[in-house]
Amino acid sequence: MNTTADVARPTGHSQRHRALRLVAALLAVVGLTSARAESVDIQANLDNTLYQSATGAISDGKGAHMFAGRTNQASDSIRRGLVAFDVAGSVPAHSTITAVTLHLYMSRTNSEAGARTISLKRTLASWGEGTSNDTGQEGGGAPSTTGDATWIHRFYSTQFWTTAGGDYAAQVSASTSVNAIGDYAWSGSGLVADVQSWVDAPATNFGWILFGDESAPITAKRFETRETNTASQRPHLIITFAPPSNTGACCATNGDCSITNQATCTNSGGSYQGNNSSCVPNQCPQPPSGACCASNGSCSISSALACAVSGGGYSGNGTSCEPNQCPQPAGACCIAGQPGTCSSLSLSACLAQGGMFEGAGSSCQVDLCPYVDALPRPAVATPVSGASGAAASYEVAIQQIQQKLHRDLPQTTLWGYDGSYPGPTIEAAKDQPVSVHWLNDLRDGNGVLRTTHLLPVDTCLTGPDTEGATARTVTHLHGGHTPWTSDGYPEDTSLPGQSRNYTYPNHQLPATIWYHDHAMGITRLNVYLGLAGFYLVRDPAELALGLPAGAYEIALAIQDRAIGSDGTLLYPAAWQEDFFGDKILVNGKVWPYLDVDRGWYRFRVLDGSNSRTYTLKLSDGATFKVIGNDGGLLSAPVTVTQITLAPGERADLAINFGGYAPGTQVLLENSAPAPYPGVPGVGVVAQVMKFIVGANTGHTAAPPAALRTVVPLNPASAVVERTLELRKVDDACGGSAWTINGLRWNDPITESPLLGTTEIWRFVNRSGMAHPMHLHLSMFQILDRQAFTVVNGNVVPTGSPSPPGAWESGWKDTVLVNPSEIVRVIVPFEDYAGYYPYHCHVLEHEDHDMMRQFQTLSDVIFGNGFELP
Ligand code: C2O
Ligand code: CU
Ligand code: CU
Repeated sequence: MNTTADVARPTGHSQRHRALRLVAALLAVVGLTSARAESVDIQANLDNTLYQSATGAISDGKGAHMFAGRTNQASDSIRRGLVAFDVAGSVPAHSTITAVTLHLYMSRTNSEAGARTISLKRTLASWGEGTSNDTGQEGGGAPSTTGDATWIHRFYSTQFWTTAGGDYAAQVSASTSVNAIGDYAWSGSGLVADVQSWVDAPATNFGWILFGDESAPITAKRFETRETNTASQRPHLIITFAPPSNTGACCATNGDCSITNQATCTNSGGSYQGNNSSCVPNQCPQPPSGACCASNGSCSISSALACAVSGGGYSGNGTSCEPNQCPQPAGACCIAGQPGTCSSLSLSACLAQGGMFEGAGSSCQVDLCPYVDALPRPAVATPVSGASGAAASYEVAIQQIQQKLHRDLPQTTLWGYDGSYPGPTIEAAKDQPVSVHWLNDLRDGNGVLRTTHLLPVDTCLTGPDTEGATARTVTHLHGGHTPWTSDGYPEDTSLPGQSRNYTYPNHQLPATIWYHDHAMGITRLNVYLGLAGFYLVRDPAELALGLPAGAYEIALAIQDRAIGSDGTLLYPAAWQEDFFGDKILVNGKVWPYLDVDRGWYRFRVLDGSNSRTYTLKLSDGATFKVIGNDGGLLSAPVTVTQITLAPGERADLAINFGGYAPGTQVLLENSAPAPYPGVPGVGVVAQVMKFIVGANTGHTAAPPAALRTVVPLNPASAVVERTLELRKVDDACGGSAWTINGLRWNDPITESPLLGTTEIWRFVNRSGMAHPMHLHLSMFQILDRQAFTVVNGNVVPTGSPSPPGAWESGWKDTVLVNPSEIVRVIVPFEDYAGYYPYHCHVLEHEDHDMMRQFQTLSDVIFGNGFELP
């Protein structure tokens, strides 16, 4: 709960504080005219710590400790405690305060800190306590949450102190020397004056700020807060006062006792016990009470009525919370082992078995523990001549390999480029050609070149229907602007022992592109087995932007897989119209974690899955920036809280971990249904990976506001607008097939763009699922999206077209076309005449048979007057 109300409250709340009020010994009060002295012992109603920080990023509202003095942090080491008590709720108006003692329990100190004076000063403005909670020793604090007091905020992130470090009275109200661990007290005339002023003017009560020795580091004293487990160590304030005349004990129906005058008591529904009657001890009739069990398993003593109001289950009058006999909620408990197991257990049962509890009510969808493997970073490919990042040539063997996909899984047999999954990253530069000798070196366990595929092949699909279940491969550079003879034409496959020499001119903009297998009718199997890798094109203009680089620039290939407990990759023998794994792999590990420094990262994210679309967000809902997509940088960063990526799409994301306290864990989570867009919540695998924030400062510069110039293409410059309808049809092979304009790969070519011209392609999705449509050879720009309905079999657009989302502006090679949506893209065809595929990048769709080809025609051969088909 967020406590953002002012500390001081008007009187009338005293009934709520019965539990806070303890019987105190009657003290002799000398020199007062009143015959009575009352004493109350109240608990703090707010506490927090001000952590020195220019940004106010750190707080600890719900933490169990607060600090005063300086910690051992290298910089920003000052800490100031904040504590407030609802005095007016416990002491009747017009009372005279005669004595005040504040008790704080000091629970941790550096052995060299010695005795330090801890002083209290009156806080001069209201402040809050949010839900931030540093669960460690708390010296570093946790990320601030809404309503938290911070070094600069009274209420994060909208209201500020006049002066950083808090607003407080000049004079010290009380001080005490604090040395070893134990209970300490502050008292004296300064505290009496403060509390008297708060009784007289409750709206000025903002509690005290605790100051330690700020002259030297490692002097801090750590005190317990109202959130600490041991009740006796919580801050409490003992106030002795003489109530005004004409007041007395007022008994509320719930048994609370407070000192009021007769009218106030009667108006609040209480029963007045007569002038000068006392609440010490409380003699009000108490309603029956007993153990009340909350749904989270916690136990408290309350009346049957109060328990029902709080939504709890009442255990009966006189029942006890010692021991807690409330039913404990169960949740998913991940127990590491060989292999790890998940079972539904209560928190305590889970901890007793050394497990990781994923929260009350969470369920075991996974049979492997997440976040136990470090994120692998694919190696950078080494050329055989030339240099990485420049003109170079490479030898890449496609091999059958063994790799561990998770700590608790045995080795998995995979296919990898150059012995690894994902393949090595090829670093390329704009206009500096790269050639690759792609060798199919797939061998069986005995080292013999494979004659069959590793997975069962459905031989009724186009491709294997003539080639059989052979282990054919052909590598395509997705996003490459490549002559067709090097593009990985799906029928130009190599059998084991065969190879192809491809040349990539890299005459294109810098971008995150990728290479993957494209063999006709078995692409889904070859990519599933591991045949994919990154290919990064850079240029000097991009390098000059100072984006996070080196350790702070990481490519993330996100792919789902189904894996047997023996480590085997599972994939159905017969073609299915889509396929979803229940485990998410990033760079070849199931649910990995990444240790990050406190700063910006550039993540080049690829959805390299067969069918699964992802909607990615950070678990704390933090914003991040999209700086690029398929075709490279956007013109400017776009700030988002989530992004959807379909198979084949890339997003270049800038994420800042600089605002998190060391030790903070942030998850990258997915919420996209499968199939997509599907039904919310259905088929979702939420876990993707985890970031663990370390203590080191990383790349602190945010991405620049201007990234590069992207000139929008003018629709009027297009020479033709082609309509391509996406539909599913019944089919003898596999039961159904996906088609474009009712046509398939082997049907005659119907699109022959002339090189040097620009066209508009209009994808019309007449099916129930989204299709990420991809063109080889050319990057395009999205013009617009428009919904439609079908009337008498005809597509009728509804509403007006809307522009693409800001993050998908710029250059793309794959565009997600949603059901009942028309998406128009504008595409220039340039440089290379030849045959190029265009297709849906859901690999199951591509294989059967949502892939067609276009033929680019050279105007040198055909002349400018050539008529377009
Ligand atoms: Cu990423 Cu034609 O493919
Ligand atoms: Cu491609
Ligand atoms: Cu599709």
